[in-house]
Formats: sequence, C-alpha cells, structure tokens
Amino acid sequence: MSGELPVDPLALREEVKSKYRDVARNPNGEHHFHTGRPLARRLGYDAALVDSMPDAAVESFAGVANPFALRALDAGEKVVDAGSGGGFDCFVAAQQVGPTGKVVGIDMLPEMLDRSRTAAGLMGLEHVEFREGLLERIPVPDGWADVVISNGVINLCADKKEAFSELWRVMRPGGRLQFGDIANEKPVPAGALSDIDLWTG
Ligand SMILES: C[S@@+](CC[C@H](N)C(=O)[O-])C[C@H]1O[C@@H](n2cnc3c(N)ncnc32)[C@H](O)[C@@H]1O
Repeated sequence: MSGELPVDPLALREEVKSKYRDVARNPNGEHHFHTGRPLARRLGYDAALVDSMPDAAVESFAGVANPFALRALDAGEKVVDAGSGGGFDCFVAAQQVGPTGKVVGIDMLPEMLDRSRTAAGLMGLEHVEFREGLLERIPVPDGWADVVISNGVINLCADKKEAFSELWRVMRPGGRLQFGDIANEKPVPAGALSDIDLWTG
C-alpha cells in the first residue's frame, strides 16, 4: 500500500464486489451504467465479431472504452486482462492473437469468473484462462505479458500507484499497456473522495 488512501480499500472492494456481483447475476437487470451488446456497439467494437459471440460472452460487459481501438493485437501475443469481468475483452483478444497466443483474465469476483469460464467453454477457446486475483496482486509472473489490457477497473482501485506498478510488473520490457478508464479532469474534493458510494455510483 502506498501512503495515505482516500478510502478504506477493503470497504471499497466489498462495495465494488456487491455492485458487480449483481451485473454477473442479472446482466439484463437495471444498472446505472450501460452493459452488454448495446454498450459494445456504443464503444465501437467490431460488430461482426460481437454478433458472432453468444449472449453469455457479451451480456455482462461493463467496460468504459474499447482498448483495442488503440491498436489491434498481433497473432501469438500473450495478454493479461486486469479486471476481466464477464470476459468480453478476453474473447476479443483471443480472436486477435489466435490459437498460438494466450489470454489470461484476472478478476476478484467468483461470480464473474464462473460466467467468463462458461462462455469460454461455450466458444471452445482453449487459449483463454481466467484466474481469481486482485489488480493489486496479479497472479501472473514478472514480465510475462506482451500486452496488458484493462477496461473500467483502475478507477475502482483505492491505491492507483499499487495497481499501476502491478500492471507494469507483469508486462515484459517493451510490452504495451492498452487500457480504457474514467479520469477526472479536475481534482476531486476530499469529501467526495472519501465517499465510497461516489466511487461506484
Ligand atoms: C466495470 S467492471 C469491468 C469488467 C470488464 N473489464 C468489462 O469491460 O466488462 C469491473 C470489474 O473489475 C473487477 N474488479 C474491480 N476491482 C478489482 C480489483 N482490485 N482486483 C480485481 N478485480 C477487480 C470487478 O469484480 C468487476 O468484474
């Protein structure tokens, strides 16, 4: 942990878990953010690819951007998706790196991991794997990944320094970090920073 944090990281994590447990269990339920196929369409993902995926692979997508819009992945690359949720970006990555590549999705929520593993099985994707773990302690060796992706997760971490140093640790020298996230253009008042509801609200 690096220095004084604006909120209790454990309390925040529990709040985040309860929010996304609901997305995993009720993907088509009422959420205060866009999800699923409509969201993938809004964010400009390849429509033919998204249409080719079963509902189980797309319906709990809850990202905030399209990390592949920055640059498509190359065949054979090794990819880590930090905070993989229902696995949607892992399935897009799997299509780009092909069977000679490898994709590892990391998430702290068993309900999301179950969902993404089931979807990977449905699509017969053997080069995609999901591991339970934290962004702050990623269960991947140093320098393993050619590319690290993340979509809408770093903003949910109380200790950003710790999160970024872990993303850096698992990336090989010369590797790429392609992530989409929420950033504030102006400083957040301390009172708001310490209000956990605003972190997931
Ligand atoms: C906004 S959703 C995004 C999921 C996925 N990236 C997507 O685009 O659909 C946030 C996900 O990150 C996971 N998450 C949040 N904080 C985490 C942390 N510190 N470590 C591991 N997973 C985390 C949650 O369990 C949830 O599945």
